Amino acid sequence: MRALALCGLLLAGLLMPVQGYAQGETATRDTTEKGAPYVPTPRHIALKMLTLADISSDDVVYDLGSGDGRILILAAQEFGARGVGIEIDSQLVQRARRKARRAGVADRVEFRQGDLFDTDLRPATVVTLYLWPDMNNRLRPKLQRELSSGDRIVSHSFNIDKWPADTTVTMEVRSPSEPNKPLFLWRISAPDATP
Ligand SMILES: C[S@@+](CC[C@H](N)C(=O)[O-])C[C@H]1O[C@@H](n2cnc3c(N)ncnc32)[C@H](O)[C@@H]1O
Repeated sequence: MRALALCGLLLAGLLMPVQGYAQGETATRDTTEKGAPYVPTPRHIALKMLTLADISSDDVVYDLGSGDGRILILAAQEFGARGVGIEIDSQLVQRARRKARRAGVADRVEFRQGDLFDTDLRPATVVTLYLWPDMNNRLRPKLQRELSSGDRIVSHSFNIDKWPADTTVTMEVRSPSEPNKPLFLWRISAPDATP
């Protein structure tokens, strides 16, 4: 009887939405032991993230935790940008590569399997994030060290502690049961030249 009750509890836990993501937005693949779980960004939000960052064909967009590659594929298709996706889950990397080939942008986007914290961000001009808040916070020193003046960072849903965003917009979601989604934009400014 007790074993049956325990199984029920575990099952209920597994079916619960992943904490930290918006209500109604459940993880489709739990990779919490590696960091943020896979929850894809809806197309209209991805498009808003890219326009907020003022993407052009001169940009190299790094999506940290790139999932199925949708943000970078859109950046290449709609803005002619180049992209590099870093994703820890090898199956998602394979899926992103297949989708890029089907979309005809495989020459502009690259998907690498790896840990985003080990990735050299210096070639990026734009970084996109949809990660846990604590991952954003851990990334902050790396972003500030490796990005250059004029580069942009856009985060879906989550802010970075003690780093006020330059712009915040609220996306109205399409289902009345979901909360609106904030997007945050930071622009890296030139180092202060005053002695
Ligand atoms: C919320 S999903 C976002 C996917 C995609 N960026 C999007 O917005 O559609 C977060 C992704 O980060 C990946 N991830 C989590 N920790 C990671 C790490 N340390 N290095 C690389 N990828 C990671 C997960 O596997 C997951 O695919």
